[in-house]
Amino acid sequence: MNKFARYDKTCDSGLGYCDAESDLPSKILIKGGTVVNAEHQEVADVYVEDGLIVAVRPNIKVADGVRVIDATGKFVMPGGIDPHTHLAMEFMGTETIDNFFTGQAAALAGGTTMHIDFVIPVDGSLSKGYEAYVEKAKLACMDYGFHMAITKWDDIVPKEMEIMVKEKGINSFKFFMAYKGSLMVSDDLLLEGLKKCKSLGALAMVHAENGDAVFEGQKRMIELGITGPEGHALSRPPVLEGEATARAIRLAAFVNAPLYVVHVMSTDAMEEIARAQKSGQRVIGEPVVSGLILDDSVLWDPDFITAAKFVMSPPIRALGHGKTLQAALSTGVLKLVGTDHCTFNSTQKSFGIDDFRKIPNGVNGLEERMHLVWDAMVESGQMSATDYVRVTSTECARLFNIYPRKGAILAGSDADIIIFNPNATFHISAKSHHSRSDTNVYEGRSGKGKVEVTIAGGRIVWENEELKVVPGSGKYISMPPFNYLYHGIDKADARYLTSLKAPVNRIRPSL
Ligand code: URP
Ligand code: ZN
Ligand code: ZN
Repeated sequence: MNKFARYDKTCDSGLGYCDAESDLPSKILIKGGTVVNAEHQEVADVYVEDGLIVAVRPNIKVADGVRVIDATGKFVMPGGIDPHTHLAMEFMGTETIDNFFTGQAAALAGGTTMHIDFVIPVDGSLSKGYEAYVEKAKLACMDYGFHMAITKWDDIVPKEMEIMVKEKGINSFKFFMAYKGSLMVSDDLLLEGLKKCKSLGALAMVHAENGDAVFEGQKRMIELGITGPEGHALSRPPVLEGEATARAIRLAAFVNAPLYVVHVMSTDAMEEIARAQKSGQRVIGEPVVSGLILDDSVLWDPDFITAAKFVMSPPIRALGHGKTLQAALSTGVLKLVGTDHCTFNSTQKSFGIDDFRKIPNGVNGLEERMHLVWDAMVESGQMSATDYVRVTSTECARLFNIYPRKGAILAGSDADIIIFNPNATFHISAKSHHSRSDTNVYEGRSGKGKVEVTIAGGRIVWENEELKVVPGSGKYISMPPFNYLYHGIDKADARYLTSLKAPVNRIRPSL
């Protein structure tokens, strides 16, 4: 499948082919832009050859045959890396509408050039889950990595975790504290998982909601006759997210393991993370675009589909939570922004027309993230362009141990680059987006700043509003364990052991 493909989201797979073979240039000079990295920005040229950045400096001269792009007045930044997606995921009796081709095509159109997707085990088996996702990812048109969920515990699971880390390039495992009866894990499993992650140098991730209490909340809503999408928000209030976040943080502290809290949606959860960080604990908080931007009033919309498209877990919260999450992102309490892209179309969302518990949970965001974060954080004056690069790309590369190959515009880094025009305007609509979903939770939004060119793996894949994507061209990015959160953790363990002042060497009484 190595043909030059024209993207057509109306095809079943999202693929539509034209006859021409790929004529995409492999030598590119980006001239005169402001190159933005997480620590520094400067006006410079960027020269790309065979998928790599070769040079970053002013006034680079090149021979004929090089495609030259004028980036004067524009930002040249690392392509976005989305730490949290679900493509081709089987979930709640159906499968997400975006697969590894359509989801990634959408991502590239929005300036994201890599994502990390969650492998879901098959019948609890990690190796079967891994094989299934290797198949799904054969459609990939951009680089990707895998996290893996842990859904059960027995003698085999920890051995398979070791194989995933040492042989398959997976350095993070997610534990769902919600979705009772399907993905949810108990506290003893979470503790075992945290210990195993620590011994492997892998990063433990949690979906933090109290699943037992959510189950109770759902029953309560149904008994009250609240069966619509608003029941979703009412059944799982912020306190249940705050409780689970606090519990996961305390369990991680108990075994001195780093922790990554995915999709932080509430002030309650964010404050638990801030408190832990203040006490010196290694806890990372990931907000997602929907949590930063939206509020839960939409779940009360009288039109079922309009309301149901916003159903995700933890729920989109009441007005005010988004603002505190934005402030926490700007001050560094929250470190990087994901999307939790997990799309279902109107037909799928309608499975829950009579019972909100059956609405497949998930929203879009892969194509929209870079624009919306710029608009909400940089245009609003809450964040600099360098900080923007950090939260949309560099921090993810650092955390998952692939920096500076990814997340930087440096000589030797992969040529995943966007050219961003801060004076152009973006518009969002399901009619023009590249996801296969027929709805978009950001419908009708527009704002300042636009990704005009995306270069992925050294090829121009998005330019003049046109995608040129090649299924099968995306590479799997193997991610090594022991990221920076592990540096010095052995010293903390040693300090803990010393602090015990035990066992006490006692004199046995002579009886
Ligand atoms: O609603 C959501 N978040 N769907 C995807 C699964 C998850 O919990 O991340
Ligand atoms: Zn989750
Ligand atoms: Zn998710």
